[in-house]
This record gives sequence, C-alpha cells and structure tokens, in this order.
Amino acid sequence: MKKTKSTKNVKIEAVAKPKHHLIIFAHPNSNSFTKAMVDQIILASEKAGAETVVRNLYTMNFNPILSQEEIQGAYQGILAEEIRYEQQLIHKADLITLVYPLWWMGFPAILKGYLDRVLTAGFAYQTDANGSVGLIHGKKMQQFVNLGSNVAEYETKGFAQALDVCLINGLFNFCGITDIDYELFGSLYGISDQERQAILTKVAEKTTKNITAL
Ligand SMILES: Cc1cc2nc3c(=O)[nH]c(=O)nc-3n(C[C@H](O)[C@H](O)[C@H](O)COP(=O)(O)O)c2cc1C
Repeated sequence: MKKTKSTKNVKIEAVAKPKHHLIIFAHPNSNSFTKAMVDQIILASEKAGAETVVRNLYTMNFNPILSQEEIQGAYQGILAEEIRYEQQLIHKADLITLVYPLWWMGFPAILKGYLDRVLTAGFAYQTDANGSVGLIHGKKMQQFVNLGSNVAEYETKGFAQALDVCLINGLFNFCGITDIDYELFGSLYGISDQERQAILTKVAEKTTKNITAL
C-alpha cells in the first residue's frame, strides 16, 4: 500500500481578511472642499489596503424620496433592488465613513433620504412591545462634517452637542453602531489654504488609524 506523505510539518499561514471600507458622501459640487476631503480619504483607505467603495449620492442621482408604498413594503421585507444593494454594502463594511456639509443643522436632503430609505425596519433596527433594538453590529464609523459656522460658537450655543445627540451618535447608536469617531470642521469660508491642507491631512490620518485598528 502506498504511504501518504506526512503533513505534520506543513505550516498553514493565516490569510488576513480584507477590510471593507464604505464611504458615503453628499455634495453637489465636484470641486468642493468636501469632495477634496473624500479624495484624501479614498487615497488613505486604499494605501491602508482596505477594499474601498464610494457612494457619491449626487453622481448616483440617488432618489431620496421615501414613499408610503416603500415604508409598507419594508415592513413585509419587500425592498427595491437599489436599496437591497446599499444594505449589502453596509452589511459588508467594517468601517463606514460619512462626509457631508451641514445644511440647515442637518444632513443634505439627499443623504437624509438615503438614510430614510436604506435604514429600514428589519435591517437597521427592530421594534416590538419592549422597544427598539439596533441590528447593525460590529462596525466602526467615521463622520466628517463641514460647517460654514465656527465650531467653538456651536459648542457655546449647545448646537454641537445637539448634532452629536441627534445626527451623529444618536441616530447611529439607535441602529447598533456605537463606535463612532467624528469631527466637525468649521469656519470653512474663512480659513486659509494652509488650514484647509491641515484638515485634509487630518482626515487622511484618521482614516489610516481607523482602518489599521479594525
Ligand atoms: C443649504 C445650505 C444650508 C447650510 N446650513 C448650514 C448650517 O446650518 N450651519 C453651518 O454652519 N453651515 C451651513 N451651511 C454652510 C455649509 O456647511 C458650507 O457651505 C460647507 O460646509 C462648505 O463646504 P464646501 O466648501 O465643501 O461646500 C449651509 C450651506 C447651504 C448651501
């Protein structure tokens, strides 16, 4: 009988799982500072070896209108193909980055509509008689928010805390995402090129750090 070779000394090397990074951003101007930030984030992400997917909501021409029919459908698990696709991207992501300008104290409408339509019941949260629980687990998030106003002034007036409680940690904690690194970048109409460059460097460095820590 033929003897098979012993595999005792064969080394099995662990193959590192690729890290998935989903970047969602909303700005209608492809020459905006917000877009320049996204470009730096993409470069840092790819350099860190993450599989990087970018959802530019304006170039996608994303329809932000959540209809009554769609709300009812979602409760029965009936979803449009485009929504199912976005949910798969979120499901796959280890790091989710949101980049947007603050518009009237909130998300630009296209991003708000994206969240309205994509974070459906049964995917992002579940509600029963005992209350609601988030369903999106095991992910890190970064949010970079651009403001025309001064951040120190927003802190003094309590607006920065309100944004944290509502848009940033509040909304995403509800969906189960609790590990959120965010920063508001303010006075964007008044800062120098050097200060803008420092912001670009900062978002790139944060991206590298957050991917490395995954
Ligand atoms: C419709 C609209 C609403 C805005 N609302 C706010 C606001 O509530 N607070 C604020 O600080 N800046 C506000 N801004 C200023 C933007 O945040 C600012 O233009 C943007 O962050 C600059 O980034 P960009 O150079 O990438 O456009 C608003 C701008 C627009 C166009």
